[in-house]
Amino acid sequence: MRHPARTKVIATFSRKERANAVAKAVALLKEGEIIALPTETVYGLAADALNPIAVAKIFEAKERPHFDPLIVHVPDEAWLKKIAKLGEADRQIVSKLVRKFWPGPLTIILPKRNIVPDIVTAGLDTVATRISAHPVFAEIVRAFGKPLAAPSANRFGRISPTTARHVFNELDGRIPLIIDGGPTEHGIESTIVAIRDNGIEILRRGPITAEKLRRIRFQLVSARKAADVTIVRAPGQLPSHYAPRTPLRLTDDAATFSPEPDQRIGLLAWKPESGSFQTPGDNTWWPGDRRSLKFAAVRILSERQDLREAATNLFRYLRELDELDLNLIIAERVPSQGLGAAIMDRLQRAAYPSSDAPGMPE
Ligand code: TXA
Ligand code: MG
Repeated sequence: MRHPARTKVIATFSRKERANAVAKAVALLKEGEIIALPTETVYGLAADALNPIAVAKIFEAKERPHFDPLIVHVPDEAWLKKIAKLGEADRQIVSKLVRKFWPGPLTIILPKRNIVPDIVTAGLDTVATRISAHPVFAEIVRAFGKPLAAPSANRFGRISPTTARHVFNELDGRIPLIIDGGPTEHGIESTIVAIRDNGIEILRRGPITAEKLRRIRFQLVSARKAADVTIVRAPGQLPSHYAPRTPLRLTDDAATFSPEPDQRIGLLAWKPESGSFQTPGDNTWWPGDRRSLKFAAVRILSERQDLREAATNLFRYLRELDELDLNLIIAERVPSQGLGAAIMDRLQRAAYPSSDAPGMPE
């Protein structure tokens, strides 16, 4: 694998920059190279999904300790039938999902066709697939004319990148090119669903929430019991997946948290007021001041307590706090409805191992 001394970052803000970025990206993909691209969820590390050698470079750059199945991003709906088999029963559900949510942050697991190399699906007989709504990603995958395998562009076990800078920090020197499309829209990874028993099972929570799916009359089936599970529940489902290096603990209310002396603690707050603590008689504090006497650093997920904004900020703030050499990060729980459930899912994994974390998968 080529290890360029320094990874190039190209912007896509002007029309000219974008045309140049698309041309460079497509040329590298055709050579079997891997490049980082923006999607509407998080940045992805993309390779020609039908070229096993190119796909292997993804695992190498990410340092994934084993081969885990990747999401295949197709250029258009016609490609869906080329990579996946649609049984009669699934067809209706799939076409409704596709109509409602594609292009967009929804990944569908389907039985795979032989054209998809085993390394992409880690030997599974199913393939995860979606069409990204990001205009730059869409332009590149269409110009390339074939599906792209793309996991999140972070090293194994780390937080998914939501800006080109995050990708650079993780993968500089390991990949030739990063296409900068600005901060991503959703900030968390796509919702993953499988089709089963005439309904859909949510395998990973994300921007397309359970509530949204129910509202348009999809029947949600609950997770399989251990005895039925024959497939891996891979990285996104590992309990400690979205981990900052700094230990992280969850709390309902940061106001009730008392730090030990000499500890530098960061706060990821849901309640806007949690960041600004004042001790009585402290006249150096003024309204709107975000200094906190209890916390060495504070990030408020959303001043307006808007879950969508919170999702967009989540990984960026975790990353920023992680860079401050803190002893501990305290994260306030967010309401677990709608997008909040997806945010809590990531926070619980970031908190692992702690009593808040989900158990090991079967
Ligand atoms: O938003 C996203 O989905 C981003 C952007 C780049 O598209 N991609 C992403 O990929 O999050 P990755 O590889 O970080 O997460 C993909 C998840 C993994 O947890 C993997 O185990 C699961 O999808 N997965 C992939 N193929 C699967 C399959 N055939 N069956 C079950 N799970 C699968
Ligand atoms: Mg990932």
